[in-house]
Amino acid sequence: MKIVRARDYDDMSRKVANIISAQVILKPDCVLGLATGSTPIGAYRQLAGWNQKGDCDFSQVSTYNLDEYRGLSHDDPQSYHYFMKTNFFDHVNIDQANTHVPDGSNPDADAACKEYDRIVAAAGYPDLQLLGIGNNGHIGFNEPDDHFSKGTHCVNLTESTIQANSRLFDRIEDVPRQAYTMGVQTIMFAKMIVIAANGSAKAQAVHDMCYGPVTPQCPASILQLHDNVVVVADEAALALCPAE
Ligand code: PGA
Repeated sequence: MKIVRARDYDDMSRKVANIISAQVILKPDCVLGLATGSTPIGAYRQLAGWNQKGDCDFSQVSTYNLDEYRGLSHDDPQSYHYFMKTNFFDHVNIDQANTHVPDGSNPDADAACKEYDRIVAAAGYPDLQLLGIGNNGHIGFNEPDDHFSKGTHCVNLTESTIQANSRLFDRIEDVPRQAYTMGVQTIMFAKMIVIAANGSAKAQAVHDMCYGPVTPQCPASILQLHDNVVVVADEAALALCPAE
């Protein structure tokens, strides 16, 4: 794993955006795996700024997001479909027909997950997968467990994730309890993985991901077994990691 140290959130965001931009320059029709959450918003904003200046062309790019809440329609402001449109897709010249997010509006979990696996595989898996990390070490919505998951599946969110995500909802009761998420194996099929983290709440998870045992109790720790992973994290998130 390569660790890139950033000063703060803005520096982390620019570094992540630079890596994604390089991927798009090197392969204009690349497949990007994208993430939601607070972490990538700054990188999306930076990429949108460059795109508007004509510097980063998304016209041939296709995207596959990691996850979506089960039971929310695509235009629900809390859905990840909506998040991606408002934080990124509406601000760049991507063909929205080439953007994909698991279909949380389909109550048939098995059908929704199988279809998502089919289209991600048909696309050849991401050239670059962007990830955030949960305070509990989750990636996508792959929560700590006694085994690593494989393909896209329906998960029950843990109390810690519901709590962490409740900041984005009016009331904690409104946070969906289930989600469809790409599995850990699918994430590992990406050719390159960029995982971003900022803030002291992530320090333990970042340490365990990089230096702890590879265990499904910290799903991100599996990334130690991937040969092309870049961790971009700020000083607070790296506080428990040895200085290099
Ligand atoms: P965050 O979430 O970016 O909102 O901190 C990351 C995650 O839970 O994967």
